Order: sequence, then C-alpha cells, then structure tokens
Amino acid sequence: MEETESIYGAYKETLPLVMDYIAGMIRTINERAVEDTGHPVYEHLIYRIKSDSSMRDKCIKKGLPPSPESALLKIHDAIGIRVVTGFVDDIHAMIRYLKSMSGCRVVTEKDYIRNSKPNGYRSYHMILEFTVPFEDVLGNNPGHYFAEIQLRTIAMDSWASLEHELKYKQQIGNEKMIVSELKRVADELASCDISMQTIREMIRAQ
Ligand code: GTP
Ligand code: MG
Repeated sequence: MEETESIYGAYKETLPLVMDYIAGMIRTINERAVEDTGHPVYEHLIYRIKSDSSMRDKCIKKGLPPSPESALLKIHDAIGIRVVTGFVDDIHAMIRYLKSMSGCRVVTEKDYIRNSKPNGYRSYHMILEFTVPFEDVLGNNPGHYFAEIQLRTIAMDSWASLEHELKYKQQIGNEKMIVSELKRVADELASCDISMQTIREMIRAQ
C-alpha cells in the first residue's frame, strides 16, 4: 500500500526542529530567571507536534482542505507547548517574559484562570508566532511558525489530566457526581494555589 503523505508535507521534518528551537528559547527564560531572582519561573515544559490524524480531523472539522497551508497557517496548534509552574504569579511572570522576547509575537490570549471554564478548567492560553531560522510553508527563511502555549500551575495541570481522562471514557457510571466533584476540587485547588502564593510572599518578604 502506498504511504499517504503527511498533512505537514515537506515541513514534517522541519516541525520538530522548530519546536526544539522554541523550547530552547523558553528554557533560556528560565535560566535568566534563576540568574536574576535565584528562582526558576517554571517547573517543567512539555511539548508535542499534533499528530497527522488529529490535524486532519481538525482541518475537516473546520472545513479546511487538509493541506500543509491549513495545518501551519490556518490552524495554530501544530506545535503545542505546556509550561507548568509552581505558583500562579509565575504564570504572569512567564507571560511578561514571553511578551518581551524578540522574535515572538502574541496572536491571541485566553485567560481561563481569571475566567475558568464551567467545568473548572483553568490555564492561560496563548497563540504565539515565532520567527525562526527555518523555512516556513510560504517559503520564507527566516520563517514564521505558530505555537499554542498553555501555562498552568502543577495543581491545574494534574486536574486537567484527570478531567481529560474523563472526556475519553465512552460510558461512565456516576457521571453527574464525578463532574460535580471535579468542579468542586478545581475550585479548592484554585483556593490552595492562592494560599500557596500568599505563603510564598510572606516567606520571601522575611
Ligand atoms: P481549538 O481547540 O484549537 O479549536 O480552539 P479552542 O478555542 O477550543 O481552544 P481552547 O483554547 O479552548 O483549548 C485548547 C486546548 O486547551 C485543548 O486542546 C486542551 O488541550 C486544553 N483544554 C481546553 N479546555 C479544556 C478542558 O475543559 N479540559 C481539559 N482537560 N483541557 C482543556
Ligand atoms: Mg478546543
């Protein structure tokens, strides 16, 4: 059987290089933060390229032809990066660092921390456009690539992983109770995140 071409076309090999390059830019932020303040601004980074099949599904859902142009220009989360922090203030510090970085432009921002989703989901989402030393889908080099950055605390992250598991279950008993418990726990975690932040401020003010 003939192998079907990747939706990313000729850019399939470039994408992981671009992602590593962007991750490197973000790691530099943490190194600078440690130098400046003695503390890292985030705990860890994870990142992924959206799989071919998920990207195809997303194009079809949005009524776009499944092409490299759709995947890399019309859809902005081929590259997804998650920044997980210890504290809520670190998210805001990271946002400031990202905004001050050269070669990085903010396309959109969604503050699901201030405005949590009805299910209790909290995170700060940004679509960023990076200028990188790789050819892009328009043939420019330096090229422009989009990435979705999700910023969340460790507490928000473990909650989102658990809630994500629920979404992928076909049939589930006690669904109502689980959904309402998840919402209750999300709010409790948010309250603990605020208390942790306050305690840290008290300790650092000594
Ligand atoms: P697209 O999903 O890109 O079409 O746009 P959107 O506007 O729906 O994006 P949004 O910023 O709401 O969500 C993007 C990503 O955030 C998702 O793919 C998930 O990784 C994460 N996310 C958003 N909402 C939830 C949620 O309720 N639970 C969990 N676990 N993750 C979520
Ligand atoms: Mg969505």
